[in-house]
Amino acid sequence: MEPVRLGIVGLGRAFSLMRASLSGDPRVALLAACDPRPTARTTFAAEFGGTAYADLATLLADPSVEAVYIATPHQLHAAQVLAALAADKHVLVEKPFALTLADCIAMRDAAAAAGRHIIVGHSHSFDAPIMAAHQVIQSGEFGALRMISALYHTDFLYRPRRPEELDSRLGGGAVFNQAPHQIDIIRLLGGGLLRSVRALTGAWDPARPTEGAYAALLQFTSGAFASLTYSGYAHFDGDAFADWISEGGRAKPAGAAFTTRARLATGTAAELAQRTARTYGNGPEAAPTNPPHHEHFGLIIASCDRADLRPFPDRLEIHADSQTIARPIPPPRVPRQEVLDELVAAIRLGQPPLHSAAWGLATMEATLAILDSARSGQDVIMQHQVPC
Ligand SMILES: NC(=O)c1ccc[n+]([C@@H]2O[C@H](COP(=O)([O-])OP(=O)(O)OC[C@H]3O[C@@H](n4cnc5c(N)ncnc54)[C@H](O)[C@@H]3O)[C@@H](O)[C@H]2O)c1
Repeated sequence: MEPVRLGIVGLGRAFSLMRASLSGDPRVALLAACDPRPTARTTFAAEFGGTAYADLATLLADPSVEAVYIATPHQLHAAQVLAALAADKHVLVEKPFALTLADCIAMRDAAAAAGRHIIVGHSHSFDAPIMAAHQVIQSGEFGALRMISALYHTDFLYRPRRPEELDSRLGGGAVFNQAPHQIDIIRLLGGGLLRSVRALTGAWDPARPTEGAYAALLQFTSGAFASLTYSGYAHFDGDAFADWISEGGRAKPAGAAFTTRARLATGTAAELAQRTARTYGNGPEAAPTNPPHHEHFGLIIASCDRADLRPFPDRLEIHADSQTIARPIPPPRVPRQEVLDELVAAIRLGQPPLHSAAWGLATMEATLAILDSARSGQDVIMQHQVPC
């Protein structure tokens, strides 16, 4: 099978997280990239031998590129996806899909008109243990799904941030950045079709005045329901519920979330410099290493009629009527391979992706509903949901 000829848009942290997968998969050829940072371009050209452009238009004019991975800041996604579709490219775009429903709808419709695929990811619903739980639920082995509990406490708000990441009006905060992971997971486990969202949010640090926490109650059209809790205030460390395996699938010391706060530089310029220093191309790039465990997004318990299913980074625990069963999940060959599985299957085999534009729109509808419901104090009724 001919490799998918891919161009990267945005050589930042998200690209670094996909790097092991992209560089180790013969089904993908990394031909080009674009980024306004010269050091990132030089590093990319040296590592992959591809062409590194300074702007998107020149990348999109490159006929050797058939698909792009858009990994730029949230607020750029919609315009860049539309430009890529207009240039007849397939698109893999990072979460959050976009910042408004109108933009999500415009991208979905443009992809359909262009006959190109959009895949929205990575999100943690791609993680193999979540997929394993999804398959058990779909099989009906333990009866119907009734309820999902999702809870994650992290250091999200105290990682170095760009200024717009701390301004909710510009797409900042935990809801835009983190809720798409949890919502994608619970929509996958619950069948996709949400009926309503009711939520509250918290913005408790005046120095970082955006949502750092939320709690939401989501109802499915099936009658099943899910509760989502998230805190990024760097106190309790939710990796305690994942055998002290980090979100990225690596062993970590117990309970040190507060050290993130202590390490954060003081002042906007110093914080931005700290964030940029960690970005691809700003220092020698070590060869990517593969995490020994699957990635995860905190505690997930899916309650069916005859068992509670609990995904872990290396197994699916099934707490049934009379016994607990642990089904091992083989370690990942490379991280996030599932994203490329979906991309290659869509482009080379014509298989409609699960994480399509319509799926991404539905996840953003519920994400935006968390903010809307917190403002209005009302249930928000869903109108753009699709099944999985
Ligand atoms: N799925 C995940 O686990 C995950 C993890 C990290 C980030 N993300 C997502 O990826 C996106 C990027 O976040 P990040 O943390 O990598 O940000 P970042 O700031 O580390 O990287 C963004 C990159 O885009 C480049 N850029 C800026 N403007 C550009 C333009 N007009 N054209 C091309 N490149 C441009 C920047 O120079 C930088 O290299 C966000 O939407 C974020 O939500 C997802």
